[in-house]
Amino acid sequence: MVLPRATNTFFSTVSVMGPVICRLLVVTLLAGTTFAQLPDGCRDPPGNNNLAAIIVKVLESVRPLLSTGIPDLGIPPLDPMGPFPYIPFHIDVSSLRLDGSVNDTLVKNLAQFIICQVNFTLGISEKFAIDLRMDDFHIDGQYDVNGLAFSLFPIFGGGNYILDVYGAGISGGAKVSYNPFSDHASIKNLQLDIMFKDLKLVLECILGCGDMADLINSLIGEIAPPMFNAIWDVIDPILTDALQDGINHILKNISISDIITKDQIQTMELDFTGDYGDIGNGGKFVDLVLGIVNNLVVSNGMDPAPLPSTSLNFGLGTADLYDGQLSKLSTLHRDGLATLDKIADWVFLYANIAVEDLEVSYTANVTASSHVTGVKISASIGRISIYMVARDDLYSKKVDLDQFVITEFGKIDVKIEGLGVLGYVLAPLTEAVANLVHEDIANILETQIKDYIQEVLNETPWP
Ligand SMILES: *[C@@H]1O[C@H](CO)[C@@H](O)[C@H](O)[C@H]1NC(C)=O
Ligand SMILES: *[C@@H]1O[C@H](CO)[C@@H](O)[C@H](O)[C@H]1NC(C)=O
Ligand SMILES: *[C@@H]1O[C@H](CO)[C@@H](O)[C@H](O)[C@H]1NC(C)=O
Ligand SMILES: *[C@@H]1O[C@H](CO)[C@@H](O)[C@H](O)[C@H]1NC(C)=O
Repeated sequence: MVLPRATNTFFSTVSVMGPVICRLLVVTLLAGTTFAQLPDGCRDPPGNNNLAAIIVKVLESVRPLLSTGIPDLGIPPLDPMGPFPYIPFHIDVSSLRLDGSVNDTLVKNLAQFIICQVNFTLGISEKFAIDLRMDDFHIDGQYDVNGLAFSLFPIFGGGNYILDVYGAGISGGAKVSYNPFSDHASIKNLQLDIMFKDLKLVLECILGCGDMADLINSLIGEIAPPMFNAIWDVIDPILTDALQDGINHILKNISISDIITKDQIQTMELDFTGDYGDIGNGGKFVDLVLGIVNNLVVSNGMDPAPLPSTSLNFGLGTADLYDGQLSKLSTLHRDGLATLDKIADWVFLYANIAVEDLEVSYTANVTASSHVTGVKISASIGRISIYMVARDDLYSKKVDLDQFVITEFGKIDVKIEGLGVLGYVLAPLTEAVANLVHEDIANILETQIKDYIQEVLNETPWP
């Protein structure tokens, strides 16, 4: 049988059906309301590397097998696919309430797929993506509908239906796992999405073959998409399983390192250098993250950051510290190598980071044998280093900061001016100030700054 491909074939449908046909309804729906626009532009060759090219080649070679299926792999016949028994659908919009069903549904032309793009990316951003196109994805069978339009006009009918999906694009995405020990890859959790340019629906003998074409033509745009969606929900898992099983069968046979060079394995989104586990491969990522953290520190008024007023007991007396501030917190930077390593379902990031040349200042009223106000206190710290380990869960995409440890706290240089007659308290006051500064800064790093880093690691795509 010649499959209907264009508008004029509706005439041949008429002649096949003969006098039984009372009314044919044709509708063109432009995608864009509930379905995304079909993307333009396929690639030639479709594969992004040698591995993808093999998948393309094998998919091309199985095209003739789609009519019989591949029983060895449990893949059923895919072209034609079906017939599928009773599939119900419901429409409940303001203009139309309707219960409908289709029966004996046969899906044709899947073997005419065009392989548009196949991406098989290993390395830090492992993923599989496929884009298939179909000129005319043809569905037919029996329909039955019963409902009410505009709460007034009964909508009913049953007979043959033809649903043509023109300019369809099926895009699929899957996770890739690559086992470096066996040197084999596989895909899982394949998800398919369909988009199309036009849906054309023909319902034979709707409304008892009466004369209400305008009414139905105004409603057919409400009927075709839910009908298609109900049918797609049946087709989708069959196609998904067939494609995923078929591709995994191809991959089972392939030793990845024979096919794909280390350079290609290292294709990475943000041009990071090095493979998983290569010392220093996380450098650019950490630079990016810390740059964002520094901006956050500034925009949240943390450079300079106010320090709380406090009363300090230094043995010989007390000092009331006020007007405190801490500057240069936005100097966070990588301090040496940072490394990304993938272990099971996580990517670990190990990094040394540091802040440089921090400065603290306070004004103090000091009380000992007498009372001196307006004492100027300042402190500087050359460098504070932190070791951190963060862990990105590949599936939940949740980031945990497993370790955040201050590994080096530079010497705290304290200057105190204006003690006047209280000059003799300089040494114990200096020591008390140094302790306070240490405690304050460690606290800010381990709470606010750690939270900013956590937040940015969560929101920045990991390589
Ligand atoms: C669906 O079609 C089959 C075969 O033509 C028929 O036996 C069955 O009764 C139909 N089911 C419904 C719900 O119409
Ligand atoms: C394949 O990768 C290229 C380059 O990253 C991208 O532009 C394209 O959209 C990808 N194709 C699919 C089907 O995801
Ligand atoms: C697997 O490899 C064998 C030997 O190279 C080859 O004969 C066979 O066709 C391959 N199978 C697939 C599915 O590529
Ligand atoms: C410090 O002394 C000044 C001048 O006497 C006074 O105005 C201020 O309130 C004092 N501040 C604190 C925190 O004691």
